[in-house]
Amino acid sequence: MTTALITGATAGIGAAFARRLAGSGHHLVLVARDTERLRDEATTLHDRYGVEVAILTADLSTEDGIAAVEKRLRDTGEPVELLVNNAGFGNKGRFLEVPVDDELTMLKVHCEAVLRLTTAAAGTMRERGRGGVINVASVAAFFPRGTYGASKAWVTQFTQGVAQDLAGSGVRLMALCPGFVQTEFHSRAGMDAGDVPRWMWLEAGRVVDTALRDLARGRTLCVPDPRYKALLGASRLVPRAVLARASTGTGRKYGPK
Ligand SMILES: NC(=O)c1ccc[n+]([C@@H]2O[C@H](COP(=O)([O-])OP(=O)(O)OC[C@H]3O[C@@H](n4cnc5c(N)ncnc54)[C@H](OP(=O)(O)O)[C@@H]3O)[C@@H](O)[C@H]2O)c1
Repeated sequence: MTTALITGATAGIGAAFARRLAGSGHHLVLVARDTERLRDEATTLHDRYGVEVAILTADLSTEDGIAAVEKRLRDTGEPVELLVNNAGFGNKGRFLEVPVDDELTMLKVHCEAVLRLTTAAAGTMRERGRGGVINVASVAAFFPRGTYGASKAWVTQFTQGVAQDLAGSGVRLMALCPGFVQTEFHSRAGMDAGDVPRWMWLEAGRVVDTALRDLARGRTLCVPDPRYKALLGASRLVPRAVLARASTGTGRKYGPK
């Protein structure tokens, strides 16, 4: 039995990872800020799948929170063989509408935490000659659109670069870039996603199934749906300035009311 650590494991994509991995016999370490919710989820998964589920309450926008998860990832007595850096959020509003402190919090959770947790995990994985890291980015990584898209572009570039650096070590890394997924993400951010066409919504369980399949195949980038693959392919034919205008428009239409 192997152990997987998932950040942002209490809702949405992270909770779907937890269910799938528990269902296939992995022990789990679940990370999020809400301890009660972590406890409930751990009990449910343990009772349903018979795996060991530990919880770690940590706010990844804080030094203490990141350090606590780094410490767990460096514990060679109970090695983590799969890390899913999934915790993330959106900020309501466009540039200059969002306080810069909130933008910095996003960079801490989406970039600094991902850098430090990947470093902690990959170090011990390389020593053992095996392990995997999935860093959850977004299709927003490929469109010029504010701090969110920029932070996810960083996650994607970083992950693919590190995957190359560690090629042959037995450690696999993959950036996961979904489109719109039905989770708590938009309601938590106070965004109105009601106008997003139905065909654009993905189901978290399917996203996770595709991600785990692609990691097993050795892919370093996963765009988990043919519709979004086609969209990204088409976007490469469009000049960057036009793409930026369209992307900003999309933000206005689907963004906060
Ligand atoms: N939903 C989409 O359309 C979509 C599309 C592309 C990419 N993504 C990405 O997918 C990832 C997961 O998003 P989701 O849609 O599943 O969101 P979600 O349903 O809102 O879940 C977010 C999870 O992250 C945790 N979290 C948030 N801030 C945290 C912090 N500072 N420290 C530790 N944990 C934190 C939350 O738990 P607590 O509140 O208890 O901490 C929760 O478990 C994010 O990185 C997001 O950017 C989402």
